[in-house]
Amino acid sequence: MSSNETRARVAVVGSLNMDLVARAPRLPHPGETLAGRTFAQVAGGKGGNQAVAAARLGAQVSMLGCVGADANGAQLRAGLEAEGIDCTAVETGREATGVALIVVDDASQNAIVIVAGSNGEVTPETIARHEAVLAAADVVICQLETPLDTVQAALATARRLGKTVILNPAPATGPLPAEWLPLIDYLIPNELEAATLTGLPVGSPEEAATAAAVLRAAGARNVLVTLGPRGVQAALEGAAPALYDAPKVKAVDTTAAGDTFIGGFAAQLAQGASVDAAIRFAQRAAALSVTRAGAQPSIPTWAEVEG
Ligand code: RIB
Repeated sequence: MSSNETRARVAVVGSLNMDLVARAPRLPHPGETLAGRTFAQVAGGKGGNQAVAAARLGAQVSMLGCVGADANGAQLRAGLEAEGIDCTAVETGREATGVALIVVDDASQNAIVIVAGSNGEVTPETIARHEAVLAAADVVICQLETPLDTVQAALATARRLGKTVILNPAPATGPLPAEWLPLIDYLIPNELEAATLTGLPVGSPEEAATAAAVLRAAGARNVLVTLGPRGVQAALEGAAPALYDAPKVKAVDTTAAGDTFIGGFAAQLAQGASVDAAIRFAQRAAALSVTRAGAQPSIPTWAEVEG
């Protein structure tokens, strides 16, 4: 790998959460109290996870976000800095640091409730204040755990600056605004998000290919639908639809697998890898992450993926 000075640059605009994680035999039903087996508090948030993934997987990373003036915020910031991530654009807000309440079951599936807290204080003005961070990047990544007008500002600024723009539309609550799609080079939803964005069923690679084609027709340049153990369904400019099979692993916890894929994919693109090579590398990284517990603790390094 190249030195810190010459490493390709990725900027992440997004959320920083403290994850409060209980492991239980299964996910609770409405109204039910369920005994959990273990509890852990780990660094998370889709933005933070994607930043850590891009950093561990070879890029020089800058994070743009907001934490609270509390212990969780200090811990999240210190964790990012320990990864060598530039946090000059991580502001300290008035709200408490965002949290995510996560239950992971014995089948390694999860259910997550997020409380945005200070992530809600990342505004279009924050993007304008830190435009230099986006200007210095090769690739800019956004998700949907910050306010939507902020995401729109980040996408539009990155597009104006000529950057490669990735949107992970998570969590998805409905179709994306039509004017966003032409701003996006790589739209990367999972199957649930692809279904929510299009209103189509996405239960198979074939259905994912249909949804991806719809999103491309609406203006997204390239679409990658992540399908967990079934791989990644790709709809790429100038290429036939393709299913990339996932490496087979024994899953322990799927939390942040998608974030690992996106950070790894971005790091590879920023370093000039082909899209094909970037997808395969990111799949290997994501597969390793599901063999470990927690969000940021599960994300592998470049050496682990290549080793
Ligand atoms: O993608 C996983 C992440 O979603 C967790 O770390 C949690 O914080 C939520 O943002």
